[in-house]
Amino acid sequence: MIRMTISTLIFLLSAAFLLGEELYVPPLLEGTVMEMTMMKGELSLSFGKSPTMGFNGDYLGPTIRVDNGDAFDIRIENRLGEDSTVHWHGLHVPAEFDGGPHQIIGKDRTWNPRFTIDQKAATLWYHPHLMGKTAEHVYKGLAGMFIIEDSYSRNLDIPADYGVNDFPIILQDRRINRDGSFRYSPSMSDYMHGYVGNIVLTNGAINPTLKTDGGTYRFRILNGSNSTIFRIRFSGGRDFTVIASDGGFLPRSLETDSLIISPGERYEILVDLAAGSKTEMLTDLYGGDSHKSLTIETGPSRGEYYDHPSSFSHSPAIADRDRVEKRTFIMETRGMGGFTINGKTMSVDRIDFRLKKNSTEIWTIENRGMGMMNIPHSFHVHDVQFSVLSVNGQRPGPLYSGPKDTVLLWPGDRIEIALRFEDYTGIYMYHCHFLEHEDNGMMGQLLIE
Ligand code: C2O
Ligand code: CU
Ligand code: CU
Repeated sequence: MIRMTISTLIFLLSAAFLLGEELYVPPLLEGTVMEMTMMKGELSLSFGKSPTMGFNGDYLGPTIRVDNGDAFDIRIENRLGEDSTVHWHGLHVPAEFDGGPHQIIGKDRTWNPRFTIDQKAATLWYHPHLMGKTAEHVYKGLAGMFIIEDSYSRNLDIPADYGVNDFPIILQDRRINRDGSFRYSPSMSDYMHGYVGNIVLTNGAINPTLKTDGGTYRFRILNGSNSTIFRIRFSGGRDFTVIASDGGFLPRSLETDSLIISPGERYEILVDLAAGSKTEMLTDLYGGDSHKSLTIETGPSRGEYYDHPSSFSHSPAIADRDRVEKRTFIMETRGMGGFTINGKTMSVDRIDFRLKKNSTEIWTIENRGMGMMNIPHSFHVHDVQFSVLSVNGQRPGPLYSGPKDTVLLWPGDRIEIALRFEDYTGIYMYHCHFLEHEDNGMMGQLLIE
């Protein structure tokens, strides 16, 4: 009790009187041969220290940046003292380099994926994907952004200067325990309802400050939490423009004052800030509280302003609706710890279905739950960016009109998507991206032949 009071007091003091840390911008990792080391670390917050894991550092990892058409070649060394994997979330990638549960990087081993980037500009990310360990490894800090640029994105007149007017924003809720650390210790109910935190980390810090000039800013926002749905907004109800979703630019951008983003999803936004102003980004946790997640202070200079494009000609929907295979995926929670897709929990030894390379498919995904088991889920598919055809029988709204790899399903929701599988054969995963659900069986395997 007393401890709680003290940590609450410290929190209030640090929030009210101390200047926040500066926003940490992960370094760029670029070049023909990249190197990353997975390592153990430690992160200090005002509450105390936590044991963590990171890539090339204590917490999180560098922002990998590539161009469409590049040869990608990365050597990843595992110094965690335990097995892990590195999955490229959202990337069109050969199955053997996908980094799912089959591509284990043993402790002290090195993994060297090599392939050609064949994908339009987008903000993706990477994280471990070891069976039963994904939630813990991501929670401890193993996550980073993966930016693809191309000739189209490079020619757009929008902020694109990394760390200057174009910022990665990795939002993660974390739960401070009694010892002041955010050690990962989920209860049974946390598996069900998600490991909702009592703080929000933005690139690894609590409500950091970005000191800059007035101007237009681009934020590439990742919900890097385990299983908490966020609502993002700005102080004063300030409007911003959403220009891209998981897999790239939206056909039509959306001006809004709030944005719902579920675990694993990304959105890119543009926001105009006046010189000499102070703006707060707020993150509301579904099932939790509202948090200040970034304070932006602009100095007296005006900086650079950009028009917010209203449309992009970059993301044609998957059109071929003829001769397609149709499939249905029922996501269901059956009592404590039973997370199923089509009545089954994940088994690495089972292929759930097979499909042909170079084929288009239409999938219907349904979140079916009853009473107490009525909880949100999401649906993520490896290797592809899909088009959302309908949400509960309606045409999708603007946020779901661009390329997606992860969609949120509220209880009772039914979402129809079109997917095109090309180039590669092999085993890929599909799963709920609420990591506690994924680790407890809400995942399946498809085999492209
Ligand atoms: Cu972001 Cu299969 O994962
Ligand atoms: Cu993925
Ligand atoms: Cu789920």
